[in-house]
Amino acid sequence: MRNRFAMALAFTVFMVCCCAPAFADTLTVNQDQPVHAVSPTLYGIFIEDINCAVDGGLYAELLKNRSFENEGLWNPQHADHWEAWSLKKREKAQAVLENDAPLHENNPTYLRVSMEAGGLIRVVNQGFGGNSFRGGVPIVAGESYDFSFWMRADETAVAGGRIVISLTDAAGNSLCGAPLDISLARQEEENQWVKIGTAFTAEATGGAVLSVTVSGQGTIDLDMFSLMPQSRTGADWPGGGMRTDIVDMLRELKPRFLRFPGGCVVEGTYVRENAYDWKVTVGNVETRREIPNTWGGMQTMGVGFYEYFCLCEELGALPVPVVHAGVLCQARDVKDPPLTLEETAVYAQDILDLIEFATGDADTTWGALRVQMGHAEPFDLQYIAIGNENWGTVYFSRYEILSKTVKDRYPDITCIVAAGPVAEGGLFNDSWSNIRRMFAGDLVDEHYYMNSAWFPSHISRYDKYPRATKVFLGEYAAHEPVQGTRRPNNVYAALCEAAYLTGVERNSDVVVMSCYAPLLCREGEVDWTPDLIWFNDDEVYATPSYYVQQMFSLACGTELVASETDGDLFQVATRTGNALQIKIVNLSEKTKPLTLLLSGIPDQTAHGQMLAGEKNHVNSFAKPDNAAPQEVEIVCTDSKAETKLPPWSLTVLEFSLAERK
Ligand code: AHR
Repeated sequence: MRNRFAMALAFTVFMVCCCAPAFADTLTVNQDQPVHAVSPTLYGIFIEDINCAVDGGLYAELLKNRSFENEGLWNPQHADHWEAWSLKKREKAQAVLENDAPLHENNPTYLRVSMEAGGLIRVVNQGFGGNSFRGGVPIVAGESYDFSFWMRADETAVAGGRIVISLTDAAGNSLCGAPLDISLARQEEENQWVKIGTAFTAEATGGAVLSVTVSGQGTIDLDMFSLMPQSRTGADWPGGGMRTDIVDMLRELKPRFLRFPGGCVVEGTYVRENAYDWKVTVGNVETRREIPNTWGGMQTMGVGFYEYFCLCEELGALPVPVVHAGVLCQARDVKDPPLTLEETAVYAQDILDLIEFATGDADTTWGALRVQMGHAEPFDLQYIAIGNENWGTVYFSRYEILSKTVKDRYPDITCIVAAGPVAEGGLFNDSWSNIRRMFAGDLVDEHYYMNSAWFPSHISRYDKYPRATKVFLGEYAAHEPVQGTRRPNNVYAALCEAAYLTGVERNSDVVVMSCYAPLLCREGEVDWTPDLIWFNDDEVYATPSYYVQQMFSLACGTELVASETDGDLFQVATRTGNALQIKIVNLSEKTKPLTLLLSGIPDQTAHGQMLAGEKNHVNSFAKPDNAAPQEVEIVCTDSKAETKLPPWSLTVLEFSLAERK
C-alpha cells in the first residue's frame, strides 16, 4: 500500500515536470546501448555464527547448552559444561556431568542423576534469553513447541522413577499447562538410551525456564534436551529447523547465493580441533560434534551442512561453502601449526567428500548419507571456497594442492581463492600476484571493511581490473567510528555502500558475486558491528544497509546499459527484457533536482523505492522503520522525467520499455 509520503513525492514529481529548474543535474540513460551482461549471481548473503547469528539466532533451538558440551575455546579450564543450567533442588541425590558410555562418541557429556530411595533433583535451563527483555526461554501464548530429550535409566530407576518437565515463569507458574509427567516404569529398555518427545502448547507469554525434576531411586542419565517452536522453517530437517522470521528476512533479500559457515569460524582458533569440520555437522543431530566457536560459545551444528544446503534451496540461492585450507586463522594467535603438505593432500579427501555429499548418487558413501537424511536429489553445488581470509605462501601452497584435487575430480566446480583480509597494500598485492600467476582461472575472494568515506571515493576500483579473472567480494561493510560500544549502521554508511555498489554493478563483468558481512546479530550478544539484521527473542529489524542490499538485489537487471550524469550523483542503469532499472544515490546534504533523459522510453508513470533519512539515522527495536524505503512514482513524458532527490538518499526506479497497445 502506498503511504502518504509516497503520494506527496508523486505529486512533487508532477509539479516539477511542469516547471523544471534550470540547475538540475542530468542523468542520461541509453537503454538501447547494452554494455555487458550483469552477473546473475551478483547479490548474495553470508551467514557466519558470529553475534549468536546461528546458535541462539537462526537455529530454532531455544535451549542453550542443551547437550552439556560447552567447553573453553582452547583451554579446558575455561570449560563450563553447566552453562545455562542450574541445580535448583537436591534431596538424597546428586547430579554430575559424566562421559562414560555416552549417547554418541561425538556427544560425550551428559547429566547423571544418582538417587537414594526418595531422592529428587531439579535442574533448569534458562535458554539464550539471559540478556533478553524476557529473561529466559521465550514462550508465546498460542504457539506449540516440540520438546524432546534422551534418557537412560538403570533397573532400579525404571522400577519407580519419574521425570517431570515443565516450562515455568520466574514465579514458578507453568506457561504451558500441565507438565509432562513420565513414569519410568513405562520405558521398555533398561540401561539403553531412549528418546522421549512431546509437544507443549503455550497458554501464556513470557520468559521461562525449562524445569526438569527427577525423582525415585537409582541412576538416570539425561542428554540432548531440545525445545523448538512448531512454526519454524524446516521442521523436518534433521537438525530441527530455523526461525521463520529470520528466514523470511533473508528471503526478502532475494539472495542469489549463500556463503557459509565463515568467516573466522572456518579457520579455527588456537588448535586444529576448533577448525570447522563439515563431517561432524551431518547425520542425526545427536551424533554431531559441537565445536567451540571462535566468537565464543559452541556451535551445536544443529544448522549443519545438510541444513545449510536445504536453506539455500529454500531461498533459491546457490551454495558457496567455505572449507578449511589447512591453515589456522592467521590473524590470531595460534598454537597448532598448519597441516604439512603431506597432511594437506590427505585432508583434500574431506573436500571431495563434501562435494560427494552434496551431489553424489545414492550409491556413493556420502551421497547415500544425504539421501538418508531426506534429500534424494543432488544439491546445486557449483562453487567451493578453500580458505577464508588467508594469505602468503603457507596458504597458497596448500590451496594449490586442495584446489587441484577438486579440479581434477570435479572440473565444473569453481574454486574460490582468498585474497587476504585487506583492500590494498603489500599483502593484498602479494596475494593478487600469486593468484594471477597460479590461479587466474579461479574466483578471487576479496574482503575489506573500510571507513564509510572510502567507499564512494573508490567506486572506480574495479574499472581497471583485467577482465579475465573474476572477483567475489565476499565480505565488506562501511565502518563508521565507534559510538559507545558500537559502530552504528546509520543512513550515511548505508548510502556509502550504495554509492559503491553502483561501481560494483557497473563492473559486474569482473565482480560476479558480492555479500555484506556480518549478516546477523542478536541484541546483547555483540561480537562485531555493524551487522545487516538485528534480532532478539521474537523481533527482527532491518538496518539501512539491509535496505540498500535489498533495493540493489531486487532491481538488478540482466544487462548493464550506458548511462552518465553531469553532476556528482552515483548511478547505474540495467535492463531486463522490457524493464529498465535505474539506481541513483544522492550522497550530499542538498536536495538535488534531476532531469532524466531516457531515450526510447514510452510515456508512463514509473514506480520505485526511495531510502532517505538524516545522515545519522539508525533503526532499532523501538523504531524499526526510522529509515526504511518508501514507494515513489515518477512521470515520464517524451523520454524525459524530472524529480528531486532528497538529501542522503537512494532512489531505485523501474521503467517499462514496452509500448502500450
Ligand atoms: O565478518 C566478520 C569477520 O571478519 C569474519 O569472520 C572474518 O572473515 C573477517 O575478518
